[in-house]
Amino acid sequence: MQRTFDVQAVREQFPALGREYKGRGVVYFDGPGGSQVAKQAIDAVSGYMERGGANLHGVFPTSTETEEILAQTRLAAADFLGGAPEEVAFGANMTTLTFAISRALAHEWDENSEIVVTELDHRANVDPWLIAASERGATVRWVRVDPETLTLDREDLERNINEHTKLVAVGLASNAVGTVNDVAAIAEKAHGAGAIVAVDAVHAAPHIPIDRDWLGADVITCSAYKFFGPHVGVTAIKRDLFERMSVYRLDPAPDHIPEKLETGTQNHEGIAGVKGALDFIASLGEGASQREKHISAMQTIEEYEADLAAKFRAALGDLPNVKLYAAPEGVHKTPTIAFRVEGRTNEEVCIHMLEHGFFIAAGDFYASTLAEKLGISDGGGFVRAGLAPYNTMEEVERFIEALEGFVKGR
Ligand SMILES: Cc1ncc(COP(=O)(O)O)c(C=O)c1O
Repeated sequence: MQRTFDVQAVREQFPALGREYKGRGVVYFDGPGGSQVAKQAIDAVSGYMERGGANLHGVFPTSTETEEILAQTRLAAADFLGGAPEEVAFGANMTTLTFAISRALAHEWDENSEIVVTELDHRANVDPWLIAASERGATVRWVRVDPETLTLDREDLERNINEHTKLVAVGLASNAVGTVNDVAAIAEKAHGAGAIVAVDAVHAAPHIPIDRDWLGADVITCSAYKFFGPHVGVTAIKRDLFERMSVYRLDPAPDHIPEKLETGTQNHEGIAGVKGALDFIASLGEGASQREKHISAMQTIEEYEADLAAKFRAALGDLPNVKLYAAPEGVHKTPTIAFRVEGRTNEEVCIHMLEHGFFIAAGDFYASTLAEKLGISDGGGFVRAGLAPYNTMEEVERFIEALEGFVKGR
């Protein structure tokens, strides 16, 4: 069923789209680095601060309201990811949360333990685990990415998981090239070996519906600044694991889930904004429950973006001297498009596109092992055009036209 998606109505929800650069409207193609923020999220942040904030545990209204906001946001995040509110914890960002979780899980590792990371992942879902493994003397196994297909090598994955595996850390989608990994199949294999599965959903969260239990993620972590909200990290950890997890709890934190993972006073206004962002997403969907609305909204976003991305990739593939980095047709991908222009630096491409009003970035985006494997680390990695639900087909067409002018020297 083709769902309806009113992109103009969505655009009206993003005040930053009104911005101009050198007299023309800005086109934001840098969503994978951080999306623009929905009005509902902005209003929730400023509303919290305007009404009066407070710390927790007071008898007065600003304190009880703050507690209520935290509870409501946990519920909304649980509805977004699939899980229960008491399994949801907040933190500064995904990296900081993953670092804390890695320290906790590593308590159960020793020299006979092994962990598995991948060559496709963002380093935020690699390095915390590498440090923890090194401190416990555990062995690290890397799953190979196929440089031709930009997908994980399933046979290598199977070979790397065994009865010593304690953890498999895998991204749901690549923030560099958009490949969506078959996390459910990977988790099944990992669970068969008794390992914990930690899923980085930072890049996937704004693009595809997420169901933590369907994916088989014991830990799933994302960041609201990628899904139209403020800079707050969100993790959902399966209750039994979370309860037995021996976190580095610092005394102001209680000793129960989920707060035991949350060090110090939380970013209350930011957490209010996360709820605003999630309410905005839910408003794009249909259903009897918030969970149904989230799933339906993300399906609608995915369909809309997939159409734009397919045309974008096809048009880029037709341009001379443009090398597109994308998994083959048939492989599930987010609308995140990586390319290079032969004979030109990535910076030249970004500057040219900026003159046409496009905000796009270049680099390895911390998918540095992938960039190394593709031999483009020294050349500055990829140019990345990342689409969001507020982008339009007209913007995609204008981008292609401007890039065509650049590659043909017009
Ligand atoms: C796939 C992926 N994982 C992890 C991160 C790190 O997230 P955070 O900035 O919330 O620490 C990013 C940020 O770009 C990302 O794209």
